[in-house]
Amino acid sequence: MMTEPDNTGLNLSPPADEPARQFYFIGKCAELIKKRSEKLGRPMRSMIQTFGCQMNERDSEKLAGVMAQMGLEKAGSEEEADILVYNTCTVRENADKRLYGRLGVCKAYKQSDKEMIIALCGCMMQEEHVVERIKASYPYVDIIFGTFNIFSFPELLYKRLGSGERVIDIRKGADRIVEELPSERKYSFKTGVNIMYGCDNFCTYCIVPYVRGRERSREPKEIIREIERAASEGVVEIMLLGQNVNSYGKGLDTDITFAELLSEAAGVDGIKRVRFMTSHPKDLSPELIKVIAGNEKIARHIHLPLQSGSDRILEAMNRHYTREKYIALAEMIRAEIPDVSITSDIIVGFPGESAGDVDDTIDVIERVRFDGAFTFEYSPRTGTPAARMEQLDRAFVQSNFDRVLHTVQRISKEQAGRFEGRVMEVLIEGEDEKDPLRYTGRISQNNVVHFPKEGYDIGDFVNVSLDECRGFYYNGKVSGMK
Ligand code: 5AD
Ligand code: SF4
Repeated sequence: MMTEPDNTGLNLSPPADEPARQFYFIGKCAELIKKRSEKLGRPMRSMIQTFGCQMNERDSEKLAGVMAQMGLEKAGSEEEADILVYNTCTVRENADKRLYGRLGVCKAYKQSDKEMIIALCGCMMQEEHVVERIKASYPYVDIIFGTFNIFSFPELLYKRLGSGERVIDIRKGADRIVEELPSERKYSFKTGVNIMYGCDNFCTYCIVPYVRGRERSREPKEIIREIERAASEGVVEIMLLGQNVNSYGKGLDTDITFAELLSEAAGVDGIKRVRFMTSHPKDLSPELIKVIAGNEKIARHIHLPLQSGSDRILEAMNRHYTREKYIALAEMIRAEIPDVSITSDIIVGFPGESAGDVDDTIDVIERVRFDGAFTFEYSPRTGTPAARMEQLDRAFVQSNFDRVLHTVQRISKEQAGRFEGRVMEVLIEGEDEKDPLRYTGRISQNNVVHFPKEGYDIGDFVNVSLDECRGFYYNGKVSGMK
């Protein structure tokens, strides 16, 4: 007997290979979503809330891509969403607190809409104590998955839609890197590109190696192919993403350094600006500095986390450099790359840190003259070595934090002033939030510029005269298209 050919392939059993398997589940979810939308008399809607770093932002673009392909529309607010996803961060304790706060609000959503699906993913979900707490205290959470299987969201959602039961899938490590699934960019003109995952450095305060696993570099060919595709779709600025981009290439069959990859990425047709994040000072090579200096498409901005300016604390943090090495590196960067901006991350209150150690940190800030720096109070993370050390008095930490913050703010303000009066190239990123007649964009150094709209579009590069520096941003006007 002849049977009807199955054009969709959706009546077959799921393929074992990835990403084919997830494409299969995207199709299965789409069928269920269509049915439910018909029942509701309106399209089902989704919303993703992203906490934390650019890695999470990029992961959320991937989730958004698969959800769009399932036929889900975007919700205008959390309450309006039929599927609400929180992509979580756990780098510091206040990130955790924010999520628990949100989950309290979710309870009310769920009471007024029992059909709403709440999904949690990201770094926090890789911590056992978090998942235990959610299982015990937040019964209305429907799906929990981690950082190693973001790609399997379609399969997990299908299970939840089909069974109505809670689905939990947390993996201990990445047995494979699954790419090539749809993704939907937050901005049409710029995107992040993962070049590696995980981190092997085990700084003693940091939870990232535990929740994002061992360092894995992607094949350069795949990375370049992804950039070419993005460029063909209108992307002009990319940010190469990794926890420690300077050690890119380790473990690959292809012999390649980060500096080489960066050059190749900048050479892709249509790409006009390349950024990267984050550099570890211990691995930043003179070769990389030369490549940046010699290639105008590479942004004049290096984010180079200092963490501390005290040798004793740097050692306790397991950072593998000294204050003098850091200062020498920063000086070399400034000497070789004119107009470069150097930004940083600084932690105050690491166990054992004295007022003298903080003086050392302040001294490095003054010598390097950071163009900007994020200053964090040390936050003990369960499972990390530093969390087991004796912790400092909070009031003492707070006063040290204030000292560091004031220094950072004073110096970055002074630094920003150095471009006042210059004409610089700006990528238009959007409308100024405070004034619909103005645009907001960024110069290569990453400083923000506001200027009147004059017929150009979001995603265009324009030359702007930076007339007035307002501390952390400029007011300017367009002096011509690039
Ligand atoms: N406490 C405070 N800050 C931290 N960071 C990472 N872990 C911690 C922690 N436990 C900071 C570092 C890092 C940035 C992303 O977050 O400065 O560079
Ligand atoms: Fe954390 Fe250090 Fe790895 Fe950065 S390099 S993610 S601070 S362990």
